[in-house]
Amino acid sequence: MTRRIAVLGAGHVGPVIARVAIAAGYEVAIAASGDPERIALVTQVLIPGAEPRWAADAVDGADVVVLAIPIHRFPAFDPALVAGKVVVDVMNYWPPVDGVVGLFEDHRDGSSELVQDRLARSAIVKTLNHLGYHELEDDRRPAGSPDRRALGVAGDDPGAVDVVAEIVERIGYDAVRLGSLRAGRLLEPGGPVFGVALPGPEFELAVGAEAALETRSST
Ligand SMILES: NC(=O)c1ccc[n+]([C@@H]2O[C@H](COP(=O)([O-])OP(=O)(O)OC[C@H]3O[C@@H](n4cnc5c(N)ncnc54)[C@H](OP(=O)(O)O)[C@@H]3O)[C@@H](O)[C@H]2O)c1
Repeated sequence: MTRRIAVLGAGHVGPVIARVAIAAGYEVAIAASGDPERIALVTQVLIPGAEPRWAADAVDGADVVVLAIPIHRFPAFDPALVAGKVVVDVMNYWPPVDGVVGLFEDHRDGSSELVQDRLARSAIVKTLNHLGYHELEDDRRPAGSPDRRALGVAGDDPGAVDVVAEIVERIGYDAVRLGSLRAGRLLEPGGPVFGVALPGPEFELAVGAEAALETRSST
């Protein structure tokens, strides 16, 4: 069972993920790209209870790592840092914001597949990327609420998908498993559920048969 989460990225979405994770009962360490002193104040004010750390220290001892950095910074990210970890990829490739990033210009694969190729010793799970950081906090609902929103959870390692789906459920969303990291392309910008708030059954319809074949988590 996941107890401790490391959030890499202390910009817009990282602190919100950290905050909702703490509210769900997880221990959270958060890191930016450098000295944790630089995020100490923002952590104290915006994410009470989170521990600001160097990235390596945050990852060390974490059960799950959330990668919430701008994707144009990813090519310089050290894969060894997260080797052996379940990594939640919340990054989106959006050239108007990120600029053109060569690594992600191979459109035969989804961005998370390309992340998995580079982080070969980690288990990548794509989720939390297809809603805005402000919604992530506001749209949470207790399990069973009629207006509880669904989030897609895509990965190739079923155990890692289970681990991340449980986090998604605990923070306040229905987890819809998509069956493969490749199917995670449905969660990307321009896909059928990007930026769209849908309850589980409608979410499954929107992503089509691929998701509908999977069992929706009901923890
Ligand atoms: N904004 C949203 O609503 C939203 C929602 C879902 C998904 N996303 C995706 O989430 C990602 C982050 O978005 P954002 O809007 O939060 O970006 P942002 O505000 O630009 O976040 C930048 C943060 O990432 C940190 N960072 C960069 N490289 C790092 C590294 N190697 N290790 C640890 N931290 C590192 C930066 O640290 P330094 O300051 O030290 O460089 C900074 O704290 C993007 O890929 C975006 O597409 C965003």
